[in-house]
Amino acid sequence: MPTPLSLISDGPLTGRVRVPGDKSISHRALMFGALAVGETVVEGLLEGEDVHATAAALRAMGADMARDAAGLWRIHGVGVGGLLQPRTALDMGNSGTSTRLLMGLLASHPVSATLIGDASLSRRPMRRVTEPLGRMGAQFSGDRLPLTMTGVCPAVPIRYVLPVASAQVKSAVLLAGLNTPGITSVVEAVPTRDHSERMLRGFGATVTVEASPAGSVISVHGEAELTPQSITVPGDPSSAAFPMVAALIVPGSRVTIAGVGINPTRAGLIGVLRAMGADIALTDRRDVGGEPVADLVVTASALTGIEVPPEVAPSMIDEFPILFVAAAFAQGRTVMRGLEELRVKESDRIAVMAAGLTACGVPVEELPDGLIVHGRGGERVPGGATVAARLDHRIAMSFAVLGLHVGKPVIVDDAAPIATSFPGFEALMHQLGARRG
Ligand code: S3P
Repeated sequence: MPTPLSLISDGPLTGRVRVPGDKSISHRALMFGALAVGETVVEGLLEGEDVHATAAALRAMGADMARDAAGLWRIHGVGVGGLLQPRTALDMGNSGTSTRLLMGLLASHPVSATLIGDASLSRRPMRRVTEPLGRMGAQFSGDRLPLTMTGVCPAVPIRYVLPVASAQVKSAVLLAGLNTPGITSVVEAVPTRDHSERMLRGFGATVTVEASPAGSVISVHGEAELTPQSITVPGDPSSAAFPMVAALIVPGSRVTIAGVGINPTRAGLIGVLRAMGADIALTDRRDVGGEPVADLVVTASALTGIEVPPEVAPSMIDEFPILFVAAAFAQGRTVMRGLEELRVKESDRIAVMAAGLTACGVPVEELPDGLIVHGRGGERVPGGATVAARLDHRIAMSFAVLGLHVGKPVIVDDAAPIATSFPGFEALMHQLGARRG
């Protein structure tokens, strides 16, 4: 049953909130904990459906993990190379990160596994991981879910030049390299999120990064031994993006979002919004679990359209749907290009956002690799539409935020996917002063 959602605001948004733990870091904490012998303890894990899919799959392969009464996750790992053959298909739900990273892990274990997922995930391309993992010796029944794969031990170490800027592909190859003799390397021309590299080092693996004419060469030394860790997961900047843009577009708002990850490979949105005129202050900068963190103080601002430099795209790849919404309230045109990857996310985010913005009365031009948004210069957007979220959490949250400053309410047809990454989204927006329309 779909769960429609419409949010409205009667006045400025105010308050101090915390967003749930980082999704990328949460997946990795569970996976690396599952490969360390002994107990890893994780504080602030994102308890979203995507991360639960990773936990269930790792349990099915022999690792033990559960939340204790204090809310800490305690993981008892099996050691690198110790994952067992799962007895039933692994259900990845909506989660591309679970799928691609676990395929990497499995590729160098001598087990077979079938991976299944929902309609959105079953449409997404997996060739980007089956191709390099196939070179390492793993076998795959196809390039989309559902698929069955058979890993190999020992696998063959490779040096792989990433054809797409993707942290998931980079991580899949590096994770396969953990249980592979020798050194496995990935070359990336454009930097993508580096949580795997940071956290693997924290767990005691040897990971090196060297500059080369082709880009950074990231190498992992195989047959690694991981030592259990205590990890605190920072707030997810991709989730913080929604209350951040809400505070910018609802006149008079001032909102603090505490404890947000500001890793430079993730923080592109802050720079882009500031270039558009946004008042976002970073206070109390600190380090949490090997990741930089700050509190974000966001004040409603008059925004101006800009040309977003395509090279920042990887550092904010999940934030474009909500940037399109911010652009709808900016003065003039915002041009966003170099975004072909958005077409293969949980939905085709260029097409789905273009359709929803058009339905809400925002003029847009869809490009093969991006979107031009003609903003309303701070005026209310007409609204008055029901928008299709297409099984995509970030589309659902983007239109819920757009609806906070419209002429007529905007209804998101199905808000259920929000639970994949941001359980408590609606409650958090209520805390800031929004209410159901
Ligand atoms: C992620 C990488 C990104 C991002 C996804 C999470 C990760 O995907 O969109 O939400 O945790 O590595 P790509 O690597 O496919 O760009």
